[in-house]
Amino acid sequence: MPDFQNLQLDLRDGIATLSVNRPDKLNALNAQTIRDLAAAVRHVAETPEIQGVILTGVGEKAFVAGADIAELSTMGPVDGVEVSRLGQRVFREIELSRKPVIAAVNGFALGGGCELALACHLRIASENAKFGLPEVKLGIIPGYGGTLRLPRIVGKGRALELILTGEMIDATEAHRIGLVNRVVPQAELLDEARKLMSTILRNGPVALGLAIECTTRGLEMSIDDGLALESNLFGLLSATEDMHEGMTAFLEKRKAEFKNK
Ligand code: COA
Repeated sequence: MPDFQNLQLDLRDGIATLSVNRPDKLNALNAQTIRDLAAAVRHVAETPEIQGVILTGVGEKAFVAGADIAELSTMGPVDGVEVSRLGQRVFREIELSRKPVIAAVNGFALGGGCELALACHLRIASENAKFGLPEVKLGIIPGYGGTLRLPRIVGKGRALELILTGEMIDATEAHRIGLVNRVVPQAELLDEARKLMSTILRNGPVALGLAIECTTRGLEMSIDDGLALESNLFGLLSATEDMHEGMTAFLEKRKAEFKNK
């Protein structure tokens, strides 16, 4: 396992819980935390025992309260581009991970924290969660994919309202606009995330990975290109042992035993 400084990793029943661990700074993403996240993403991809990931923050107050403003305050334009590109690369790897990633948003998800949640495949929020992209209040714009992903998830009008006002919304409003999949009491957040992940992980793992890829890349393509990708991946899955097992199990009225092959 990588030697993390600002991240905790707990692996149980195939589910890795990754917790950003800087609670005294509301889990703000400094350069070290981004490096830890990059190492964690690689570790997840390379570790067969990990089938899915829950991403959360340590403590009851914050998921991630954004990029580290103390670090950002000293950057010049060239560092600014690099900071943004490094975070973008890591978040893109999360978005295209073949293993499902659920954000369990346990408090403030602001700026880079909101963008991190947006890069995950699903989002569950605790009742005290707050979301926002307050970058314009600091004289910058979201730099970890927020201007691209938020409108794809909630629509351009709602996204621009959040991006231009910089104001926070609560979990109920985030649910209403489709920014989160569900809202639960904080004490139940991790259990609910694990339950949802367990339901997902009963399904064929190769199919899950390709469903993520097709849905994510499909939104970035013309409908004709997306349909071509879908039919090709559908065809590819027809050649897998897991497809054979899934269909045989259905016909034999038993539970499928998938092998990720
Ligand atoms: N970067 C660096 N430090 C941060 C941070 C961030 N994004 N967000 C919070 N912190 C630090 C605070 O500086 C404070 O540190 P200190 O105790 O050493 O002074 C600590 O975390 C606790 O935060 P505090 O502001 O005292 O908590 P609060 O309950 O009064 O307010 C927030 C909570 C989330 C409203 C407030 O911290 C905030 O607005 N954070 C910045 C959010 C933001 O703009 N994010 C986008 C960055 S691009």
